[in-house]
Amino acid sequence: MAKNKAFPTAAAFLPKERTLPTLQHASKFCQGCDLYLRATQTVFGEGTKNAKVMLVGEQPGDKEDVEGRPFVGPAGRILDEALAAAGIARSDVYVTNAVKHFSWTPDERGKRRIHKKPRYSEIQACRPWLDAEIEAVHPEVIICMGATAAQALLGKEFSVSRQRGTAVPSDLAPFVMATVHPSSILRAREDRHEQMQAFIRDLIVAAKQIHKLRRAA
Ligand code: URA
Ligand code: SF4
Repeated sequence: MAKNKAFPTAAAFLPKERTLPTLQHASKFCQGCDLYLRATQTVFGEGTKNAKVMLVGEQPGDKEDVEGRPFVGPAGRILDEALAAAGIARSDVYVTNAVKHFSWTPDERGKRRIHKKPRYSEIQACRPWLDAEIEAVHPEVIICMGATAAQALLGKEFSVSRQRGTAVPSDLAPFVMATVHPSSILRAREDRHEQMQAFIRDLIVAAKQIHKLRRAA
């Protein structure tokens, strides 16, 4: 990218009144970066404004792009399983992504759409939606799942492998933490079970926080 060229941004597409329903509606028309051109639809976050926990993934996958809802594909099944194991109720959770449109490239035969990591400029462009979601939900706990979400919210230098499962000082919420992305568990081979257990352990750290904050309230 040229040195002085500003990042594209979703900012102009955000509505004046920022409730979850108005945000979700406005996000359908976002052209804040080029990703909308090749995706089926915007996949906004899902959950109630009373959610205690916000989970942030990377971007919708193929299934999410078609259905228009976050984490309804294979990664979503891993996530649901881990949340249940950690004792976190789905009704306590707001689930969203750092980037709201599916970024993909065709496979060699042009038959399948392969997930393509969003560019840093696209993550930056989409950030106003994520900020507005955080403002509307006001979660007590934010969990960044994977490097993209962590870098979007915690900075480019953040390392998930080194800093996972522990509190990160942040103004975004009383308790902010990063862990792996559930897709990394899908990709794991022989140590899949251990990786799932480690993911659950990280989610339990967050679950304890919710209980602690609740007791203090
Ligand atoms: N991976 C993500 O990061 N988000 C989804 O919604 C689905 C898969
Ligand atoms: Fe807008 Fe985000 Fe979609 Fe880019 S990815 S067009 S910024 S909603």
